[in-house]
Amino acid sequence: MANESPAEDIIKRRTVFYRSFGIYAEAGGFYDYGPIGLRMKRNIESEWRAMFPEAMGLVEIETSTILPEIVLKASGHLATFTDPVATCGSCHTSYRLDKLLEEFYSARGDDEGLAEIRRMKLNDMLAKVESNGIKCSRCGGRIGNPENFNLMFKTQIGQKGTDAAYLRPETAQGIFMGFKDIYRSHGLRLPCGICQVGKVFRNEISPRQGLVRVREITQMETELFIDKDAGFSGFGGIGSAELEAERIRFVKRGTGAEGEFSIKELLAEGAIPNEYLAVLLYKEKRLIERLGIGMEKYRFRQLDKEELPHYSAGNIDLEIKTSYGYIEVAGNADRGDYDLSSHAKLSNTDLGVISNEKKVLPHVAEASIGVDRLLFSVIDGAVKDDGRGWKVLSLSKSMAPYMCSVFPLQKDDGLISKAEEIHRELGKRRISSYYSESGSIGKRYAKSDEIGIPNAITVDFDTLKDGTVTIRDRDTYKQVRKKISEVFEAVV
Ligand code: GAP
Repeated sequence: MANESPAEDIIKRRTVFYRSFGIYAEAGGFYDYGPIGLRMKRNIESEWRAMFPEAMGLVEIETSTILPEIVLKASGHLATFTDPVATCGSCHTSYRLDKLLEEFYSARGDDEGLAEIRRMKLNDMLAKVESNGIKCSRCGGRIGNPENFNLMFKTQIGQKGTDAAYLRPETAQGIFMGFKDIYRSHGLRLPCGICQVGKVFRNEISPRQGLVRVREITQMETELFIDKDAGFSGFGGIGSAELEAERIRFVKRGTGAEGEFSIKELLAEGAIPNEYLAVLLYKEKRLIERLGIGMEKYRFRQLDKEELPHYSAGNIDLEIKTSYGYIEVAGNADRGDYDLSSHAKLSNTDLGVISNEKKVLPHVAEASIGVDRLLFSVIDGAVKDDGRGWKVLSLSKSMAPYMCSVFPLQKDDGLISKAEEIHRELGKRRISSYYSESGSIGKRYAKSDEIGIPNAITVDFDTLKDGTVTIRDRDTYKQVRKKISEVFEAVV
């Protein structure tokens, strides 16, 4: 797989996203979003919002990004949210052992070696690093001192700093903390769902590949709360019939082979643990389709037992093929009652609710989608060559940073004033548009195409005479002449 995305140049030149505090050669793994990237990121969030909370009838909340230690003690993150890390004995560079081995086996096309890593413990990994003669890439030193490194950023609360706290590693814990109050105050009934979009923080040991492994991440998480003893009669508008009819690309545990299977079949075999998780997979497939990610690029992968997060009885990742290979963009977990039951115990609080006239501690099916990786996957897959030496981002309308560009043909007061008027009118109608008058019209088209704007409206001298403009299509370059009054419908 390529080491560089074909979108790299556009991302850099147009500051779609860029290294935070880049003028200092300080900590990597933090990225800022520029105007174009931020619009695209918001597009993803708003498509998710339409498809998950709105269409499924879930409630959305926003919770604290700082969690006191006790919350993470109960959730198991304090003890087990770790990565296998080792350091070079000479220059002290740190390495994630699983990633080091992944790179080594990937370079050799050794799929068996790759599959084996998932089943290895810390010392097995170090042994493999040694037996394969893998050395520090900086100085050639020996890699040793393995440790399970906790990924959470520690901080403290209060003036004396005596109360340990952490930046949250997932938004889910805030949802579990609020579950019972939200359930009561919103008259919810099982099954129901609470979701959240927000920042989470992980002190990744070797952040890399732009947005693919960062330290500050935006997640869109959905937690469905279920009475495990009640049967499934559909959820969020998706019933058994929809699940039965749907076929998804799936890699079953232990096989490594990818195939297309019906959700019904995967449920029957237990490859998908329950119908609620199946509903979440169904919705994720629709979401990536809506974002314009090619249906040949996604797959779901059932994780091996050894790969499961500490809270999970079964996990299915959504992976998307990019120029860096398949990357995980969402983790879907059968969390059972792991979280609610440990919080209930440690806080000595009853977190059960009444369902079907009995007290139930709900089970949870979770979909945790990473916005940053999703954004990268969309951009990476949208690059096309226009055949004239320019790159075009062939984005779906749902992902385009602006619905259209507005250009006066040339620097002429009459054309500029008309173009500005159209730009303002589009804004009033909540149609986003990008205005520019600098550079030749050809260059402005190219600059509009390379950030994926679907249409360009050009104001020329005929506009001043007959009130028509040209609308140029990004992908076909075809231009049609329309009345200004027709533009507003034509570009959405
Ligand atoms: N609450 C469950 C949870 O957090 P996860 O699989 O650890 O699950 C969910 O994370 C998603 O968050 C991932 O699928 C990925 O898209 C994103 N993510 C996690 N760590 C990331 C990182 N270091 N850089 C970019 N995205 C990350």
